[in-house]
Amino acid sequence: VAVGIGVLGAGTVGGTLVRRLIEQGSVITARTGLELEVRRVAVRSLSKARPFSVPAGVLTDRPEDVISDPTVDLVVEVMGGREPAGTLVLAALAAGKPVVTANKELIASRGPELFAAAERAGVPLLFEAAVGGGIPIIRPLMETLAGEQIARVLGIVNGTTNYILTRMAEEGCPYGEALAEAQELGYAEADPSDDVNGTDAASKASILASLAFGTWVDPMQVYREGIEELQPADLVFAADLGYAVKLLAIAERLPGGVSARVHPALLPVEHPLAGVRGATNAVFIEGSSIGELVFSGPGAGGEPTAAAMLGDVIDAARELLAGSEVAPSVRFGPGEVIDFGEVVTRLYVRLEVEDRPGVLSRIASAFAEASVSICAVRQEGRGDRAMLIIVTHAAPEAQGRRAVESLRQLDVVQDVAAVLRVVGEGE
Ligand SMILES: NC(=O)c1ccc[n+]([C@@H]2O[C@H](COP(=O)([O-])OP(=O)(O)OC[C@H]3O[C@@H](n4cnc5c(N)ncnc54)[C@H](OP(=O)(O)O)[C@@H]3O)[C@@H](O)[C@H]2O)c1
Repeated sequence: VAVGIGVLGAGTVGGTLVRRLIEQGSVITARTGLELEVRRVAVRSLSKARPFSVPAGVLTDRPEDVISDPTVDLVVEVMGGREPAGTLVLAALAAGKPVVTANKELIASRGPELFAAAERAGVPLLFEAAVGGGIPIIRPLMETLAGEQIARVLGIVNGTTNYILTRMAEEGCPYGEALAEAQELGYAEADPSDDVNGTDAASKASILASLAFGTWVDPMQVYREGIEELQPADLVFAADLGYAVKLLAIAERLPGGVSARVHPALLPVEHPLAGVRGATNAVFIEGSSIGELVFSGPGAGGEPTAAAMLGDVIDAARELLAGSEVAPSVRFGPGEVIDFGEVVTRLYVRLEVEDRPGVLSRIASAFAEASVSICAVRQEGRGDRAMLIIVTHAAPEAQGRRAVESLRQLDVVQDVAAVLRVVGEGE
């Protein structure tokens, strides 16, 4: 028996997915024994050119028709955004139709409600492509590692920002130029705000933390800093000190709860994520028995993302044909989400100071008064001014901030030019 597929959206990802379902149907059948038939596809514009051809009546501009079509057994959501995607996904689940989605924004913002709806309906809700595009990371976290005590997940989960940072670090390209290049190459959207300000990575951090620790972490609870303020100079100084700068999504299990955050971070050059270049994504997992795992690959693009979704479609179709009620692969229990101020961090602070006797001791006192100890200091004289780079030992983030605040008040400090965090050693 064929499984009827309904697809909401046929843009970059959806268009590729529909084309592959049509063109490679026989290969999929030979390999899996499944016959997957595209029965309805919803788009906004019926006149736009598509990379596939379907019989008249398959394409519709009324997405609700896809859900209600009795020949559609399984729904793929690739239109993106919160609405109408959310309402449509809930309607599909309520109708007992499994859903496959790539929509990280939707999963992150309404995960618990959507998973509960899938559980009530006894059908799968799969979202492998929502984090890391073509990289298999969701299923390893939910299934393969379900028995593992995961301690920490570090991810480079936004290709646009990693591309920009690579260009800034390797070519000394200014931020604006690197961003324009990323847009020309199609990595960055026309409006790249959600990439560069960390919003996209925060959705993914929310999903990674929730799956890794079994406590739901809302994106609003994810501390977030983007890369807009980063200066090429700090990438150079970081490299001199033996670090690469990456925008990281960080999810941690801490003594009192869990934490998730997104910010630029200095990573030791020998760390597995430090050498991840260009638009590539990578996720690094630390667990008590597994040690360290690294997953890396294309984090976006029509082909890789559609490939990950095809795997979900095949999985959901199998479950559907098996006819059994699907036990949810993930359940979320209660747990504290720790405020970022209580999380232990190490700071990299760059200061412009007056170059005269006693300056260094006043700066050292500001750190000491906040109970933050200094690990390394580098100074470069420039006439009557000096540039100081200070790397601290680990201390609660709030104490580090207190130290930075008092530095700003010092008359000998002309500018706190950068405050970044060091990750991946000595925390
Ligand atoms: N692009 C990637 O590399 C990538 C990677 C991972 C995850 N994702 C996720 O995948 C999803 C889709 O991304 P995409 O890049 O494929 O987006 P896209 O190219 O903008 O495609 C969106 C599609 O949805 C259709 N659509 C939007 N609103 C609609 C509405 N109200 N009614 C009917 N159709 C509607 C559009 O129709 P028209 O074609 O007529 O405009 C278009 O076909 C998003 O959730 C995204 O976050 C994308």
